[in-house]
Order: sequence, then structure tokens, then C-alpha cells
Amino acid sequence: MVLKIKDDIYWIGVIDWDIREFHGYETPSGSTYNSYLIKDEKVVLIDTAKHYLVDELIMGIGKVVNPEDIDYIVVNHVEMDHSGSLEKIVEISGAKIITNEKAKEHLELHYNTKNWEFIIVDSGEEISIGKRTLKFIRTPMLHWPDNMVTYCKEDKILFSNDAFGQHVASSERYDYEIEDIFNHAKEYFANILLPYRMLIPNVANALKDLEIELICPSHGGVWKEKIGEIIEKYVEWSSDNVENKAVIVYDTMYKSTHKLAYAIAEGLIDSGVKVKMYNTSETPLNTIMAGILDAKYVLIGSPTLNTNVYPPVAKFLKYMEGLKPGKKIGVAFGSYGWAEGATEVIKEVFKKLNFGIIEDECLTCKFVPKEEHLKKCYEFGKNLSTKDI
Ligand code: FEO
Repeated sequence: MVLKIKDDIYWIGVIDWDIREFHGYETPSGSTYNSYLIKDEKVVLIDTAKHYLVDELIMGIGKVVNPEDIDYIVVNHVEMDHSGSLEKIVEISGAKIITNEKAKEHLELHYNTKNWEFIIVDSGEEISIGKRTLKFIRTPMLHWPDNMVTYCKEDKILFSNDAFGQHVASSERYDYEIEDIFNHAKEYFANILLPYRMLIPNVANALKDLEIELICPSHGGVWKEKIGEIIEKYVEWSSDNVENKAVIVYDTMYKSTHKLAYAIAEGLIDSGVKVKMYNTSETPLNTIMAGILDAKYVLIGSPTLNTNVYPPVAKFLKYMEGLKPGKKIGVAFGSYGWAEGATEVIKEVFKKLNFGIIEDECLTCKFVPKEEHLKKCYEFGKNLSTKDI
């Protein structure tokens, strides 16, 4: 698919309808690897696609120009979903790579770059490609050390690479056409950019003086009518502000921890707290993290197995620990048999993440909870928002 987004500027990405897993991020809606082509005195390709889609990418380029005529390839980021097709396209075109020093170092660690020609740019540097000028702005650690974005001054387009991206395969290209685009963008933020969110205000600051008519990310839809909203969302998501919302993440062996979870949820709902509940065996980790992003309370329940946490919950805890969400109020609960263990493991993770912890004797239960016990869990949920840490 090729789409003209401005005169002589084209979206020529590849839609990956099949992908369902992206380094641990489940992608039930697929994804896209967005490349862009600018036809000026120089023909410029901005970013490429995963290696297994190189033929489709070259076919797209061929609908606009002869791939041999590409003069420059801008590498905004070296992760292989955007650089995986470089070797073949450089071989065909002999194009020079425009990138920054750190990305060049990373490219050399990925590919045989011996015969590649590089034009190294620093943050703020500009290159004329004819009628147009490309300006490069470094965005290190969003989310790799090599990241940068490219701004086309005359057309007011920001080629933002991963920033503002969404994992969604779609024949539609623009923000106003893609269903649930903000939810896709939120999930992407919560799983890719979250650990580096403190850098977002600096980037927003660096971009504030740019006139932007299009934000062209490297995944998902192009932002055209909702640019202000998505920038606002990024500032909000990076703020660590929370809603009056509880996310219950749990798993269960014989439904005992399940009963505790449901009783606590009922209490929370009746107290007016918004609740989302996820079973770790049934829900992608990335969906859970999107729920946690703006939640005030995180309640994690696990049965004790061999004096430890239940494996699917352990997997989630490790994942969440790496993403370092902002400060929350944490509650650990679960059923056990003859020895406790799971809730202690959960609380250790809360401590590492600097969560406040609320405890109560009803939160653990030996074997199967009785009616009386579940009433206490309900009351605990109902009163949680009134408790001080
Ligand atoms: Fe879409 Fe960091 O790669």
C-alpha cells in the first residue's frame, strides 16, 4: 500500500497483519512498520521495515520511484523493526545513511556496514534535500540511546519513529479513521515508553516551537486531526497522575484467590472506585500494563505454590518491575495451603517500585475462603479508598 500524504511525500510502510507477538508484547491487532518517501532533488527514505517484509517494502517504493534512485535513508532508530530491511535497500540503491553517531555505532553492531556511507547529524542539525529541509532532533532513551526524530520544515511533518506509535494493522492510515486509536497509543506508551517517561516533557518542550501538521510515527496511524490531543495524552501519561481506579491482577489454582479477588472488587465498586480486573493466565501482560498506567490502586493476588508466587503472576510481576510504573498503592492477597509465600513476594516487588502498601488479615486465606472471610474482603475493598498509607 502507498499513500500520498503531501505533495511528493508518501507513506510506503508495510502492514504486518500476522504478527501476534512483539518481544513479549502481544499484538492481537497486528502492526505496521511505517516508512516514508520524499521525492525532492534527493530521494529520501525515512526508516525501513522488518527484514521479512523487505520485498513488500521495495514493491511499495517501486510504486513511487525506482528503488535504485534512493539517495538518502534516514535512520531514526536502529531497532530491527525499522532497520531490518536496510541491508538490501542499501545494496540496491547505494543510498547514504543519515543518522546520529550513537545510531551509527548501533548499526555497526547489527549489520556489515563496511561499505555503507554515513552522514552523521547531531541534534538540531539540518540537511537540504532540494526544496525541503530536514531537521534532526535527538530523543535519546525514547526508547533506545540512538533515537531521533526528523522534521520536514516546509511540509511541517514530524517523522517521530516509535513515539506516538500504535501496534495496529489497518488499511486506514489517519488518526480519525482508526478505531480505538488512543487505546492503542496508550497501550504502546505503557509498554514501550513508560520506563523513560520522565524524558517526555523535555521532548514536548523541544517540539513546542515546531509547527506540526502531521505526526508520522513508525507504527500505526498518522496523526493529523488529533495532534494536540495525542501530545496532551503523552504529557498526561508521563505525569504519573492517577485516576480513582483500582486494577486487580490475579490468578488462581482452585478458585480460592479468585473468590478473594471478586469479593474485594465488589467492595471497591460499591465504594465508587473504578475497577479493572485481569487474570494473568487470560490477559496479555501489555493489556494489564495499559490498565495500570493511570490507576491509583494495584491489587495483586496469587495462590502460594511451593512457598512462592504462582508462575503466571510471577511473569507479570517481573514484567511490571521492568516497566517501573509511577507510585501506586499496592495490595497483595491470595490463598495458601500450609505455608504462605506468594503475598510476601508480591510485596517485595511493591517495595522495589516504591508503592505504598496496605495490609489486612483478610487478604490471605488458608485453603478455601468461607462466607465470613469473603465479607471481610468485601469490606476491605469498600473501605480501601479511606485508608491511609
Ligand atoms: Fe518500533 Fe523501538 O522499534
